[in-house]
Formats: sequence, C-alpha cells, structure tokens
Amino acid sequence: MSKLYGLIGYPVGHSLSPAMHNDAFQRLKIDARYEAFAIEPTHFGESIEQLKQRGIEGFNVTIPYKVDIMEHLDEIDPLAQSIGAVNTVVKKNGRYIGYNTDGEGYATSLLQHLDGGLSAKNILIIGAGGAAKAIFYTLASHSDAPAAFFICNRTVAKAKELIAQLPFQIKAKAISIQEAEQRMGEIDVVINTTSVGMYPHVEQMPINIDLLGSHAIVSDIIYNPLETKLLSTAKQLGIRPHNGVGMFVLQGALAFEKWTGIFPNQEAMEQIVLNNLIEK
Ligand code: ATR
Repeated sequence: MSKLYGLIGYPVGHSLSPAMHNDAFQRLKIDARYEAFAIEPTHFGESIEQLKQRGIEGFNVTIPYKVDIMEHLDEIDPLAQSIGAVNTVVKKNGRYIGYNTDGEGYATSLLQHLDGGLSAKNILIIGAGGAAKAIFYTLASHSDAPAAFFICNRTVAKAKELIAQLPFQIKAKAISIQEAEQRMGEIDVVINTTSVGMYPHVEQMPINIDLLGSHAIVSDIIYNPLETKLLSTAKQLGIRPHNGVGMFVLQGALAFEKWTGIFPNQEAMEQIVLNNLIEK
C-alpha cells in the first residue's frame, strides 16, 4: 500500500509542500503520497490521533501547530527541544519523533550563498519570533558558528529573552531597530525573519540598510514576493540578496531525507516552487 505523508496546519490550501514532495516521490519511484491536512484548532488532538491511526509515516507541521504538536509526540530531538518548535515528524519503530528542519534548511541555504563560511561573520537577525529562534539557535550551534550576533526587534525585550534562553554561551546582543540601523557598518549578514514586506504589503521594509557595506549579504526568509523591498534595496546598493526559496526548499528536502533516507533533487524541488510562485 502507498505510504502516507503530509502537512498539518491551518490553513494549508496554498502550501507548495504537496507539489514539491509528490514530485520527489515520483522521481525516486517511491510508492508514497503527501497530502495537506487543514486541521481546525478545535479538532487538533483528535485529528492527530486519526492520522496516527491511519499509520501516517511522517508529516510537516506549519502555522499554528509547531508548538502544540510537541505534546502529541513520543520523542523530541534536542535542537527542536531548544528551539521549542517542531516542523517535521518521523515515525520510527512505531514512535513519532519531532525535529526542526527550519533552522538547518535556512543555514544550509545561506551557506550555499556565502563566501568563506560563517565563522568570521557578524550576523544581524531582525525579529525575535519562532522563525528567528530556529535560525538563531541553529546558526549559533553550527560547528562553524558566527563571530557575533545582533538580534534587533520592534520589541527589544523579546530579543533579550531569545538570547537569554539559548542553552549555551555565545556572543550575542539585543538591540533596537534604530541602533541596528546605526551599526550596519559592523554587519556582514542581515537576516529578516519578520513578515514585514510579505505579500500583499510589498512596499514595507523591516529596516533601513543604507549604512551596510557592499561586501555584505542581505537575506530575507520571505519568498512571496521572491524579491522583497529589502532585497531590491540591497541590489540597488550593490549588496548581494538571498531570498527565502532556498530555506523553504531545504527544510522540505531535509524532512524528506529524514522520512526516506534519501536527499531529494534540490534543483527539481526549487523549480517546482519557482514555477508555482510565478504562476500566481
Ligand atoms: P514567526 O513564527 O513567523 O517568527 P512570530 O513568532 O509571530 O512569527 O514573530 C513575528 C516577528 O515579526 C516578531 O519579531 C515581530 O515583532 P514583535 O516581537 O515586536 O511583535 C515581528 N513583526 C511582525 N510584524 C511586524 C511589524 N509590522 N514591524 C516590525 N516587526 C514586526
């Protein structure tokens, strides 16, 4: 019988994950299918139990369930535990295990775009929510960890909390968005993890980058639009942009690898995402 995989969230109607994973299953001739399950919050617990009874082999988790899913799992990987969120669940020997591939997907994509690795870089993260936490903790625990982090957020207290909760010591400072704008000259990589600039608010920018040096890279986890105002501004300043497609594709590719043991064709996955985004 065909193995069942999927995505749980609410809503999930516009997700590109089913197209990306089903294509990978077909290419590899794996008898499996990936479905999107829109679960209403009032039915969350019973819906998860039903999926387990159907023998679901693995699933991705998206908004708003990345935290809620944790109490329904048999085991949680230490990185996902410290991030406090799960985006990938794998069934192993009848037990459901939670992982977080968002941060690793982002880190892998960034490293594919970065010259000379992470270790000498000063990183500025904009935002202090769930996405910022996954990215910050994953980059901070990387073997080639950056020299220093600045975390700036509209609410600075949340940036301070993010740093305080990191389960190990690293050079990191919480600052205001204004201070970050003034200290741009010290930064090598700017990472926007907020939704500022996402469709339909495409004219918005989370921060002013006029003082950023031209050696830097500006990264935005948003992929709709592919080129946010932040990224088009970076390009005008002669600074390299890095969009959110790579993170999305790689978090999926890393989940697929956990389910099947096979790392799928990244370019094919990326092409599916780009085709779907352009069709929109
Ligand atoms: P996610 O899980 O996608 O990271 P989240 O946990 O709700 O979502 O976090 C959203 C982040 O975007 C927060 O850092 C938030 O700033 P606050 O902590 O001050 O709320 C930031 N954010 C969202 N909308 C914003 C806006 N209009 N301007 C500035 N920051 C914004």
